[in-house]
Amino acid sequence: PPYTVGYFIGSLSAHSINRTLSKALIRLAPADLQFTEIVIKDLPLYNRDLDADYPPVAREFKAQINAADALLFVTPEYNRSVPGALKNALDWASRPWGSNALTGKPSGVIGASSGAIGTALAQQSLRGTLSFSNAPQMTAPEAYIHMTPGLIADDGRVTNEGTEEFLRAYMAEFHQYILRVLTVLPPR
Ligand code: FNR
Repeated sequence: PPYTVGYFIGSLSAHSINRTLSKALIRLAPADLQFTEIVIKDLPLYNRDLDADYPPVAREFKAQINAADALLFVTPEYNRSVPGALKNALDWASRPWGSNALTGKPSGVIGASSGAIGTALAQQSLRGTLSFSNAPQMTAPEAYIHMTPGLIADDGRVTNEGTEEFLRAYMAEFHQYILRVLTVLPPR
């Protein structure tokens, strides 16, 4: 059957290079994967005082995570970590205690940066949060995308053949990873 992938864009920018990267990934992914964005921009700041009465926007957000077979995080690096908006979203996803939506969700982590290390430290930080939240993660291949002008067109077309093949292979591996996790460990 097709698998549904809920994807997160860590950037709120209308000109996000990570949103552009996500378009390329969706284009290059195996047809067996179907993608839906899980939007983080409408979530208020997480406050544990709201755990007892989760706001509707956060309930809907968690329902989208629950509905997805797998999660893909496409995020920039802000000051050597993930943007606060994405961390905030993960905090909402993880609560209230006992109903963590991230548990058991096969996850992929990727990001693009204008800098040379291509979000390596943000990804490391994100992996720590996902690990604590019990989300199994594809650990290899890693993908640190150094975005240069024109590398990926606005519609997600990759202009460099080597980069295109790398991203295609990344998504093929992610597909295999999802299959393995969900075959061995079906959701509880
Ligand atoms: C950055 N940028 C950045 N780049 C990086 O490689 N490491 C970093 O720690 C940071 N820190 C950082 C902080 C803040 C607040 C901003 C706005 C930017 C640069 C970043 O890679 C670049 O702005 C990307 O375009 C951000 O991705 P989106 O928003 O275009 O997807």
